[in-house]
Amino acid sequence: MRRVLEILRRSDAASQPHWQSFLYQTDDEQATVATALVELNEQDELHDVDGALAEPIMWENSCLQKKCGACAMVIDGVPRLACDTRLDSTRHERIRLEPLRKFPVVADLLVDRSVLMRNLAQAGTWLESAAELPAKRWDVAYEASRCLQCGCCLEVCPNFSVQNAFGGMAAMVPLARLLSEAPADQRRALAASYASAVYGGCGKSLACRNVCPANIDIDKLLSRSNAAAIWHRW
Ligand code: SF4
Ligand code: SF4
Ligand code: FES
Repeated sequence: MRRVLEILRRSDAASQPHWQSFLYQTDDEQATVATALVELNEQDELHDVDGALAEPIMWENSCLQKKCGACAMVIDGVPRLACDTRLDSTRHERIRLEPLRKFPVVADLLVDRSVLMRNLAQAGTWLESAAELPAKRWDVAYEASRCLQCGCCLEVCPNFSVQNAFGGMAAMVPLARLLSEAPADQRRALAASYASAVYGGCGKSLACRNVCPANIDIDKLLSRSNAAAIWHRW
């Protein structure tokens, strides 16, 4: 298999972005965008398609198994996980890679997603005492526990920006989990957080649902959390 990776590059946040292309060839039918990036960077010298010497490609990864969310980037215009995007998923020879656009770029495909943690901290996403989780809410708690905090949902959200307090689905999903487990004395505080961090800013368009790499059942979590936090039907 032969692919040309067109990568939007910049050496740091202040520099002008430019496109640079790299040829990648492999016999591995399972190869992903992450496989290609790892192997390109492992070369003693990295050259682009024109033969020019290039700096290693900056990007983030950890598990390479669709478990950590670190490798999220825009692939052919869609936010996806590099380790979950096979090179043979497109018949085109050229694949475009860009950093997630809603976050500050550090370099190349590497972005600063610290706003995800800031929003969770501001929303108070922790329990003050032991969880209470009856069997009828196991499904919500389990579904919400699968969030990778990758940020793909925020990429397509018309209402999310690092400048405002609306946390989008990346905040809603952890709050949905806590709402399902919250002991009685913490429910009101969590409901208030949910109302200000999620409910008030969300237009319910569900664009986020279509790009979540974990395929989280966002409709269900939204409806159950709205019922609990806004209508107080615990
Ligand atoms: S809800 Fe889905 S897309 Fe959003 S951060 Fe969690 S795993 Fe990623
Ligand atoms: S439903 Fe729409 S507004 Fe709400 S978090 Fe998802 S994309 Fe954003
Ligand atoms: S490297 Fe962990 S999800 Fe891709």
